[in-house]
Amino acid sequence: MKSHNKSILEPIIPFIEGDGIGPDIWKPAQHVLDQAVKKAYQGTKKIIWKEILAGEKAFKQTGNWLPEETLDEIRRHEIAIKGPLTTPIGGGIRSINVTLRQVLDLYACIRPIRYFGGVPSPLKEPQKLNVMIFRENTEDVYAGIEWASGSPEAEKVRNFLVNEMKAKIRQGSGIGIKPMSPFASKRLVRMAFQYTKTHGRKVVTFVHKGNIMKFTEGAFRQWAYEVATEEFGDATVLESALKDLGGKVPPGKILVNDRIADAMFQMVLLRPEEYSVIVTPNLDGDYLSDACAAQVGGLGMAPGANIGDEAALFEATHGTAPSHAGKDEANPTSLILSGAMMLEHLGWEEAAKLVVQGIERTIEQKTVTYDLERQMSGAKKVGSSEFGENIVTNMG
Ligand code: NAI
Repeated sequence: MKSHNKSILEPIIPFIEGDGIGPDIWKPAQHVLDQAVKKAYQGTKKIIWKEILAGEKAFKQTGNWLPEETLDEIRRHEIAIKGPLTTPIGGGIRSINVTLRQVLDLYACIRPIRYFGGVPSPLKEPQKLNVMIFRENTEDVYAGIEWASGSPEAEKVRNFLVNEMKAKIRQGSGIGIKPMSPFASKRLVRMAFQYTKTHGRKVVTFVHKGNIMKFTEGAFRQWAYEVATEEFGDATVLESALKDLGGKVPPGKILVNDRIADAMFQMVLLRPEEYSVIVTPNLDGDYLSDACAAQVGGLGMAPGANIGDEAALFEATHGTAPSHAGKDEANPTSLILSGAMMLEHLGWEEAAKLVVQGIERTIEQKTVTYDLERQMSGAKKVGSSEFGENIVTNMG
C-alpha cells in the first residue's frame, strides 16, 4: 500500500462531506480526527482540510455530480475521505462511488473488521473475529457483461458459444461474462502482503470459488500463490508445506492458505481466530465483507477504503440514510473509523490508536447514537455531535 509522504507534517487532505446524513457525521468526524492528531503530536502535526465537491452539493453548485476538479484534487493529494453520496436515479448517471473507484483505479476495497466491546452482536464471542479484507475492486462482476434473456444480443452470443465453442446453453438464457486477469489479481495480492508485513499480521488467506470457476476464480488462486512464493517467498510459508515442518509455522513467517468461499463462511463463524488477512475477488468479497461485519454487529459502523497506486479514498460504508438527515442523530463511527484508517495510511499510528480507543470507551460507557441505543440495554441515546465529543473526551 502506497503510504502518503510521512515527512509532511501538515498534509492537505481533501474531503467530500457527503449527502443526506453526510454533514451530520462529517462534523464530529473532522473534530475527532483533529483532536486525535492534536493529542498525539501536541501541535507538531496537523491536517489541513480542503473541501471538494461531489454528489448533490456538487450538482447544486456546479451542475455536475462529480466535477473534474474533484478528481484532480484527489489525484494531486493522493488521498481523500468521503461521506456517503446519493446515487442519482435516472438520467443515465452512474453511481458516483463506482465512478470514483474506476476513474482513479482504486483497485483494492479494504475493510477492517473487528469487534468493539458492548456492540450488540448475534454471536457469543464476536471478539474472536479480527480480519482485514482485501477485495478486488475493478474486475469480476464489477466488469461483468450481461445480455438479457430473449434479446438479439443474447441470442447472438449463445449462437457463437453453442456453434463455435460447443457449449451447452438453453434457448432463451440470459448470459453473463466475468473477466479476471493476472494483472489485477496479482496487484491486489501484492498490496495485501505488503500490508501484512508492515502490520505484523500472521496469516493470509485467499478466498475463491475455484472449484467451480476454474479459469477465473481458480486462476485467481493460482496467481495469488505465485505472488506469495515468487515475490514474498522469504516471508511466507504455505499451509501445504507445514506437514514437513511438524505442523508449526517457522517464527516470523506469514502462513499462506486458501479456502473455497462457501467453506470460508463457515470458518469465520466456527474458527474466526485462525484468520487475519483475507484476499478475494470482487463478488466473494462483497458477500464476505458484509457477513463478517454483521458477525461483529457493526454493519452500520464498518469503515472502508478504496486504494490504488495513485490515490487512497477513505469512506463510510453505509449510505446517506435520508430520513435521518439534518437531525444530528446518525452514527458517525463508520466515517470516524475510516478516518483512523487514513491516519494509519499517513503513518500517524499514534493518532489512529487514540481514535479507536475513544470509540471503544464511548461504546463501553453505553452513550451511543440511536441505532446502537435501541439494541443495547441500559444505554443512553446521544446525538452525532455529543457522541463525537464523548469520543474526544475518552481519548488518551
Ligand atoms: P443506507 O445505508 O443509507 O440506509 C440503510 C439503513 O441504515 C437505514 O435504516 C438507515 O437509516 C440506517 N443507517 C445508515 N447509516 C446510518 C448511520 N450512520 N447512523 C444511523 N443509521 C444509519 O442505505 P440505502 O437506504 O439503501 O441508501 C440511501 C442512499 O445512499 C442511496 O442513494 C444509495 O445509493 C446511497 N448509498 C451510498 C453509499 C456510499 O456513498 N458509499 C453506500 C450505500 C448507499
